[in-house]
Amino acid sequence: MKVTFFAHSTCMLKIHDKYLLIDPFFSENPVFRNTNFLKKFQNIDYILLTHAHYDHVCDVELFSRKFDNVLVISNYEISNYFGKKGIKTYGMNYGSFISFPFGKLKYIWATHSSVFNDGTYGGNPGGFLLHTDEGNLYISGDTSVMYEMSLIPYFGKLKLSILPIGGRYTMDIEEAILASDLLKSEKILGVHYDTFEDIRINKKQAKKRFFEKGKELILLEKEKTIYVK
Ligand code: NI
Ligand code: MN
Repeated sequence: MKVTFFAHSTCMLKIHDKYLLIDPFFSENPVFRNTNFLKKFQNIDYILLTHAHYDHVCDVELFSRKFDNVLVISNYEISNYFGKKGIKTYGMNYGSFISFPFGKLKYIWATHSSVFNDGTYGGNPGGFLLHTDEGNLYISGDTSVMYEMSLIPYFGKLKLSILPIGGRYTMDIEEAILASDLLKSEKILGVHYDTFEDIRINKKQAKKRFFEKGKELILLEKEKTIYVK
């Protein structure tokens, strides 16, 4: 599995021949503004949305227009919202694994909020647990640390967890370390930091704190890729 980080919480997964884009936030993202980001993409098969906040759903319509066959996967309310705009969607909620061509996906509880910019209710916020034949991955979405995370390793050992670490709206470094303990996860890809002034972190210090706890915090430059095997 290939995991490419763009900025904020936006990542792309490549699992066999399928491309999954997570929480696309480019056009209003200070890191990407004024660049033709759409040109970077040859194909997208799925868009996974953790919750309805603008910094996670900003470019769903743009991508769905460019890639006709894209399937948007999210909670029931977010799926409905984009379904009404003529986008192909798959709605789910907490409580079971669903099989897709790339693997099994479970929508997981998150402690956060979820509303669209226009005020439309965005259902309960969440994250995704993804089980594939190339390993298991947890994408927490925006959340604080929560005891529910300790259930996740019961479903299978994680190879990588994608966790927000920027604080203020989500976990900070110390909460993310606690989360990685509950998750029994040794490898963390940090997201949701440095995009805006109020979520700046000290990257060197953050990596050191994880290292001291026997964990690896991966922080990628934009558009850099790691391989999960
Ligand atoms: Ni949010
Ligand atoms: Mn966010």
